[in-house]
Amino acid sequence: MTSTNAPPVALITGAAKRLGACTARALHNLGYDIVIHHHTSVDEAHALAGELNALRAASAVTLCHDLATVDAGTAIIKALLDVRARLDVLVNNASVFDRTPIASVDVAAWDRIHAINVRTPYFLSLAAAPLLRASHGAIVNITDIHSERPRAEYSAYCASKSGLVAVTRGLALELAPQVRVNAIAPGPILWAASEDAALQSATLAGTPLARRGDPQDIAEAVCYLVRAPFVTGHVLDVDGGRHLVL
Ligand SMILES: NC(=O)c1ccc[n+]([C@@H]2O[C@H](COP(=O)([O-])OP(=O)(O)OC[C@H]3O[C@@H](n4cnc5c(N)ncnc54)[C@H](OP(=O)(O)O)[C@@H]3O)[C@@H](O)[C@H]2O)c1
Repeated sequence: MTSTNAPPVALITGAAKRLGACTARALHNLGYDIVIHHHTSVDEAHALAGELNALRAASAVTLCHDLATVDAGTAIIKALLDVRARLDVLVNNASVFDRTPIASVDVAAWDRIHAINVRTPYFLSLAAAPLLRASHGAIVNITDIHSERPRAEYSAYCASKSGLVAVTRGLALELAPQVRVNAIAPGPILWAASEDAALQSATLAGTPLARRGDPQDIAEAVCYLVRAPFVTGHVLDVDGGRHLVL
């Protein structure tokens, strides 16, 4: 934490809804001011900011930026510094989950997935590093159990998440000792629109705990990692044991 009396600040990418919004609520409950990054979910982001500000005045702001742009990392930190003087936690949560069967994938699809899922989290982390060093802060990257184990027709997505695991471990070394960098690898939590009933049943049948998780399971894992002072470079599976049988 920095010496200023201002509350600690958490920036969460893709925080307007689903896992990101649940994580924003959980960190807010720990006392963080929340910077709700979003892209297309403008109304949801503003509604979440209103909800958090009703709980604690002036404790949440929204920040809109397309993570596919080349300068996203530096632009987001510049925008953050317009509204807050510090940063304590960065959660790289935003992601695209595009199907890329090898018969139709092209370079543009590969590049877009990698720009959003790994290039911008990396450069956003570097842009945030001076602030995080000053606060002795933490980065949490949201990866996927399929970063280590294949998923057919999603090899570009899996590769991007493998890259994010490598980024997690590399930056844990390079940003130590001031900044800790960890990752969470979710299993089935909230279905994507592309995941039909048959796939959902098969996934649950192949999950030892025989159910999907709740966004709160991811949020609580984030809260653990931001408060775990001797943990860095770790990837925490939160997946009902699915990684054991994939
Ligand atoms: N859901 C699961 O069960 C599951 C399983 C394994 C891993 N995960 C991982 O957990 C994280 C959260 O999962 P989720 O299902 O909640 O994610 P999601 O709904 O698929 O995406 C989260 C947010 O990413 C943002 N995003 C996408 N493209 C963007 C871009 N070009 N610029 C800026 N933001 C962009 C979107 O923001 P806007 O809506 O504002 O455009 C979206 O709301 C992801 O990293 C995902 O890979 C989730």
